Amino acid sequence: MSVLLAPSILSADFAHLADAVAAAERGGADLIHVDVMDGHFVPNITIGPPVVKSLKRVAKVPLDVHLMITDPDKYIGPFAEAGASMISVHVEVLPHLHRTIHAIKALGVKAGVVLNPSTPVVAISEVATDVDFVLVMSVNPGFGGQTFIPRSESKVADVRALLEKAGNKAVVEIDGGIDMSTVTRVVKAGARVLVAGQAIFGSGDPERATRDLKMAAIAALQD
Ligand code: DX5
Ligand code: ZN
Repeated sequence: MSVLLAPSILSADFAHLADAVAAAERGGADLIHVDVMDGHFVPNITIGPPVVKSLKRVAKVPLDVHLMITDPDKYIGPFAEAGASMISVHVEVLPHLHRTIHAIKALGVKAGVVLNPSTPVVAISEVATDVDFVLVMSVNPGFGGQTFIPRSESKVADVRALLEKAGNKAVVEIDGGIDMSTVTRVVKAGARVLVAGQAIFGSGDPERATRDLKMAAIAALQD
């Protein structure tokens, strides 16, 4: 598989989300990354299922919903119904992670698990055969526009190795501080889905920023 770009609308103008999605899609976005925050797991509050439902009406590409909330089990159903194609949940809040992953899959949605920067890769070793994707946080979740944590690069490679050992073709997604200065090394480390918020919607031209970042990601793959 190639490398997919998932622009995060967290950094877009929330009064014009349809325009943001359209610009990213014109630039070649493969997914739209939706950051759901509850003010408990992370110190910020963003959006819920009704907004995902509206986004689903305008987006041509699949919606990748990242749940940064303390009780994801309660909301998986509503987000699936709203139109999420991928749902990722944080291992830090889930004592029954295996059950949650299979509950997501049972809804016909791709199931991902997310590791915070301080969470070791071993936390997902027992579900390595179950997941559809693993999201490595390369910043502490809660806000867009933060600086990439360099240690994330080797973490991506470690997750890749874990999945390979498990015989699982699941992909590694990376989220936080991805821009033209970090894209090459994360792709080389094995990331195949790249989330980018500020680098795209914080730029004056989201369509062009999406295209540039995707071209850089594909070039890194071919080197
Ligand atoms: C952070 C979110 C990210 C965020 C990334 O809590 O999970 O998806 O939008 O933003 P940038 O690319 O600006 O670091
Ligand atoms: Zn995210």
